Amino acid sequence: MHLTLRQLKVFESVARHLNFTRAAEELFLTQPAVSMQVKLLETHLGLALFEQLGKSVHLTEAGQEVLGYARNISQQLDELEAVLNRMKGLAGGKLRISVATTANYFIPTLLGTFSRRFPEITVSLDVTNREILLQQLSENTVDLVIMGQPPAEADVKAADFMENPLVIVAPPEHALAKQKKIPLKRLQDEVFLVREPGSGTRIAMERFFTEREIQLKTGMEVGSNEAIKQSVQAGLGLGLLSRATIEQELELKRLVELDVAEFPIMRHWYMVHRKGKRLSGVAEAFKDFMLKEARALIGVVTPSPTSPGQRKRR
Ligand code: PGA
Repeated sequence: MHLTLRQLKVFESVARHLNFTRAAEELFLTQPAVSMQVKLLETHLGLALFEQLGKSVHLTEAGQEVLGYARNISQQLDELEAVLNRMKGLAGGKLRISVATTANYFIPTLLGTFSRRFPEITVSLDVTNREILLQQLSENTVDLVIMGQPPAEADVKAADFMENPLVIVAPPEHALAKQKKIPLKRLQDEVFLVREPGSGTRIAMERFFTEREIQLKTGMEVGSNEAIKQSVQAGLGLGLLSRATIEQELELKRLVELDVAEFPIMRHWYMVHRKGKRLSGVAEAFKDFMLKEARALIGVVTPSPTSPGQRKRR
C-alpha cells in the first residue's frame, strides 16, 4: 500500500463532515485538491470510500472501515508528538527545587528515582528554613517549593503529595516509653526540646498544644532535627519530630515513639508555586512524578492502632 498520511488526513476530514467543500475549508485546500487526494487514496486501496447519492455524500462499507483505522493512526501520531515534545523539553532541562529542612529526610530518595528515570535533567536542591522558602516563593526564584504548610495567601498553588505525621520521641529508658495512651495533660510534667522559630514543625507543635490549652515546659531551643534527636537521646527532654526523621533511630532502638492520645499530629507535605506560574516541562514532570509515586516510594507511615509506636509501611 502506498497511501500517505496526508491522504488519510484529508479522507478523515471529508468522512467527518460528509462534505468535500467543508473538508477543504477546514484543511485550507481547494475542493478539487481534496477530491484528488481522496481519489488517489481510493486508487491505492482499490475500493471506493464514498458514494454520492443525489446531493449527499455517504461512506461505503470500506470507507467506514478505513475511517476507524485513520482515527487510530491520527491518535497515535498525536501521542507520539506529545511524547517527543516532552522529551525535547526534558533533555538538558534544569529543575530547581527548594525544600524545608525536614523534607531533606526523604527528598534525596525521591530525587534519586526521578534522576535515574530522566538522566538528562540537572537538579539543583536547596534545603532551607520556612522563612527563606516563603521568600523564594514570593521572588519566584525556584520551580517548586516543598513545605509542610503552604502560606495562607491566595496567590499560591499547593498540591498535597504525602502525609507527614508528627510524633513525640523519648529515649527507650524513659518512664513513659512503655505507657499506652498517655493523656496530653501528662506531657505538662515533661520538658520539651523545641526547634528554632520559623520551623514548620515548631509552628504545628505550638498550634496543636495551644488549641488544647496544654502548656508545655520548653527546654533548649535546637536548630535542627539531628540535634533534637541527639539531645533527646542524651536525656535532655522529649522531642516532637516528623516521623520521617527518626526511621534509623527507631530501628536501632535509640529512640521510641510515645503512644500519646491524639497523636500523631497528621500534617501533609505540599509542592507549592506561585499561582499563574508557568511550570517548565521538567517541573511538570517532577510534579507529576511526586503526585503519583512519592507515597509508594517513601512508604508513608500510618499509625497502627494495635501496636502504638510501630511503623507500618503501605
Ligand atoms: P521544618 O519542617 O520547617 O520544621 O523543617 C517543615 C514543615 O513541617 O513545615
